[in-house]
Amino acid sequence: LTCCTSSVIDRTTSFGIAFDIDGVVLRGKIPIGNSAKALKRLYHDSGTLKIPFLFLTNGGGIPESRRAFDLSEILGIRILPSQIVQGHSSFRSLLARYENDFIVATGKGEPSVVMSEYGFKNVVSLEEYASYFDHIDPVAQYKSWTTKDKKAYDVAPDRVKAAFVISDPVDWGRDIQVLCDILTSGGLPGGEIQENEHQPPLYFAADDLEYQASFPSERLGIGAFRIALESIFTRIHHKPLESTVFGKPKPFVFKNAEVILRQLWESSCHGSAVDEDGDFSTRSFKTLYMIGDNPSVDIKGAQQAGHPWFSILTRTGVFRQRENHAEYPADLVVDTVEEAVQFILEREG
Ligand code: G3P
Ligand code: MG
Repeated sequence: LTCCTSSVIDRTTSFGIAFDIDGVVLRGKIPIGNSAKALKRLYHDSGTLKIPFLFLTNGGGIPESRRAFDLSEILGIRILPSQIVQGHSSFRSLLARYENDFIVATGKGEPSVVMSEYGFKNVVSLEEYASYFDHIDPVAQYKSWTTKDKKAYDVAPDRVKAAFVISDPVDWGRDIQVLCDILTSGGLPGGEIQENEHQPPLYFAADDLEYQASFPSERLGIGAFRIALESIFTRIHHKPLESTVFGKPKPFVFKNAEVILRQLWESSCHGSAVDEDGDFSTRSFKTLYMIGDNPSVDIKGAQQAGHPWFSILTRTGVFRQRENHAEYPADLVVDTVEEAVQFILEREG
């Protein structure tokens, strides 16, 4: 994307858009709600960005650069990695704390690749970690998908300093077992449960109980996995599980989205951030639109974030009702993302 024109900002007319992905733009890998056509309206004919927008998803599992490439292919537009904010994108903020520590990461996709790209130097996937231990998963022999060569480590791995669930786990049984092993042992599985051992920190990229994928009804998400892990951990350890959840609806996610949208506005659409007096502005948007399908995640998040967020709820995903959601009513309810974009462009004139 290249810069457009003026370096003088009209402070009163600026706006940006955050699009949820699953249930708004895509179901599985299939565009929905005329999303490709709607998104193309945010570009000039030359292909440069006209309206600053990003994708704000609680999904993930692959690096932002790969997600940008995949989405560009599916939607037929040029999406930058900086326009992708996934649930695990905020894990970058923990780099200073764990950069050189031995950590494990799990979830669909390539969890250790994602974390390595953020700069974590000593990360392994939970799948690889489990392979260090003979018999850690007593039903592994019945799993046709775990027939990969096992690592032949004859030394015990380091103490695990933290565990990260970056996306929806694939093998819930193994992951619950191995995470319980790590968390109840102070990061060194195999011995007796250490009641007084400090639990290594555990981080979740998001907490969606359910989300809309290709199947007609909603699917269990990373939040459902957290509940399962927590219930079992508490029963075997007699202590509450300590964990930290990232992703929407946390207010810092929306704050971060605002910062990225401002950078996109400045670098891709409207030149440098200099106001009418020639000063560098601490510019702020008049309106930021969140288009989502999940009232308790997308709409709640936009509401909690407050000004300048305006929430739009589509009927293409988790939410399908005629009337607005009772607990987290959106500022606007529409059928599709195409309608949402039409509303925004008309409103912003
Ligand atoms: O696994 C994806 C799901 O948790 C939600 O994705 O795009 O609806 O925030 P999204
Ligand atoms: Mg969604």
